[in-house]
Amino acid sequence: MIADTTSGLPVHRMRPLVARPTTEAGLGPSGPAAMAGAPPAAAEAAPPPLADARSRIEALVDPESFEEFGSRVRHRTVAFDMARKRPAGDGVVTGHARIAGRPIGLFAQDPGALGGSLGEMHAAKILQVMRQAERARTPVVGIIDSGGARIQEGVAALDGYGGIFHGNVRLSGRVPQVSVVLGPCAGGAAYSPALTDIVIMRRTGAHMFLTGPRVVQAVTREDVTAADLGGADVHSRHSGLAHLVADDAAGALELASQVLSYLPGSCWEPAPMGVPAPAEAMPALPDNPRASYDVRRVVRGVVDAGSFLELQPRYARNLVTGFARIEGRPVGVVANQPMALAGVLDIASSEKGARFVRLCDAFGLPLVVLVDTPGFLPGSKQESGGVIRKGAKLLYAFAEATVPRVTVVLRKAFGGAYIVMNSRSLGADAVFCWPDAEMAVMGADAAVDVIFRRELRDAPHRQAELVERYRAEAMAPHLPAERLSVDEIIAPERTRSAVAASLRSLAGAVRLGFRHDNLPQ
Ligand code: HXC
Repeated sequence: MIADTTSGLPVHRMRPLVARPTTEAGLGPSGPAAMAGAPPAAAEAAPPPLADARSRIEALVDPESFEEFGSRVRHRTVAFDMARKRPAGDGVVTGHARIAGRPIGLFAQDPGALGGSLGEMHAAKILQVMRQAERARTPVVGIIDSGGARIQEGVAALDGYGGIFHGNVRLSGRVPQVSVVLGPCAGGAAYSPALTDIVIMRRTGAHMFLTGPRVVQAVTREDVTAADLGGADVHSRHSGLAHLVADDAAGALELASQVLSYLPGSCWEPAPMGVPAPAEAMPALPDNPRASYDVRRVVRGVVDAGSFLELQPRYARNLVTGFARIEGRPVGVVANQPMALAGVLDIASSEKGARFVRLCDAFGLPLVVLVDTPGFLPGSKQESGGVIRKGAKLLYAFAEATVPRVTVVLRKAFGGAYIVMNSRSLGADAVFCWPDAEMAVMGADAAVDVIFRRELRDAPHRQAELVERYRAEAMAPHLPAERLSVDEIIAPERTRSAVAASLRSLAGAVRLGFRHDNLPQ
């Protein structure tokens, strides 16, 4: 078992790893690219672990499953003395292989050959991987470590990237695409991972930015390090670009194979079944309805033990998203997180949720939605930031999704957030709530303030009584249950069995085939 290094959650190895070093301790601050470009090390010094494309591929795929193509490709640039620097393969290793017995297409950029920079032929090789994956309907894994567009090749290099972006979009929603960023990912190169479904970064040495520190300094006079500009911390906490972060290259590659274990080879295939396992015990929620708790404990009380892989755990923490399994069947989990911003929906969480819902829908993963939210975050900052437009993305994604969708309201669901979080009216297949759940247009205090304003002006001491009345007459869970907005009120400890039974009965609702792309949000 290794630690999911971003969330601290344990994650489980899906298959035995090929022998390889497990740490990159000892790499200098400039990272593996620099090591690869260094002169041959002294005989006694061990080579840095997983610093080149081939060792990374070996670490990722099933032993002896990799079939390379394009190993003799060389660029045809003569300018800038480039005729004297023509490494075989042109800085990228391409081919197909198997992970856990399942076929994938893959490419790995080699920082030791022209800095992994992308020229015309380098791009042609990656496009060939994509073309094959499109034909064979297999996922694509890209291992990124590149100085970006090869400067000496000019527009030919830019066109190379354009072709790759076009390929990413053509594959989107058809076959899973996973990017593992292990070194620099500079310039427009960063857009290719951003177009893929999942981005995994190594904690140190991996940097993604459109313009590097030197250019930033020249243009804006801002002094910033590569890590502060585009390191894993920035992209896992602030930009939301990185879904997962690992301490080292081995961990990052391991996460890639874990991600693929939840996804089908393509939208035309069912998702792979895992070995079923019982859930962990369902935790008791705090008695105080306003007290916070970690909704991930509830998630683990619903899904197969050890199967939950949280994505973007440090970004928009008020909404938890991740893959899991229920009775061995892969699902996508979306849950409000009362521990962060009381579980409100806002701009960042709406976009995070929308893309995840669309990813699950594209690849046929049923959605399990756990609701405990006081509503959308109010305020001028959110309104001017476009919360209506961006909240609409989450609403759209749920309403559009054709995979089985099951909702459980744990504690509260108010206003627009009640509707958006996969309500019956948006097409949820099954909706459950816990006995103390409250669903209404707004919370009791705010509601009483509006509808009993006159009564309260004359008799302010009636506040508590009116709140109680509102609770009983407008918020109690039997009210939505009487109207079939909720199918059943269930005890918390029955949640796992109710969700599992719904998913079993809805298994036939998964229609294989292309539904839609996975547009970046
Ligand atoms: C050609 C490049 C290169 C590039 C690196 N190299 N980047 N060659 N084109 N883009 C070469 C270096 O000249 C060097 O060659 C070798 O790779 C290793 O590079 P170093 O600088 O020695 O390594 P390191 O110190 O690890 O630094 C790596 C780096 C740095 C951070 C990536 O090289 C760098 O900043 N490169 C430029 C990054 C960048 O701005 N790219 C944006 C391109 S524009 P030798 O022969 O000395 O070993 C772009 C737009 C695409 O990508 C637009 C698409 C829409």
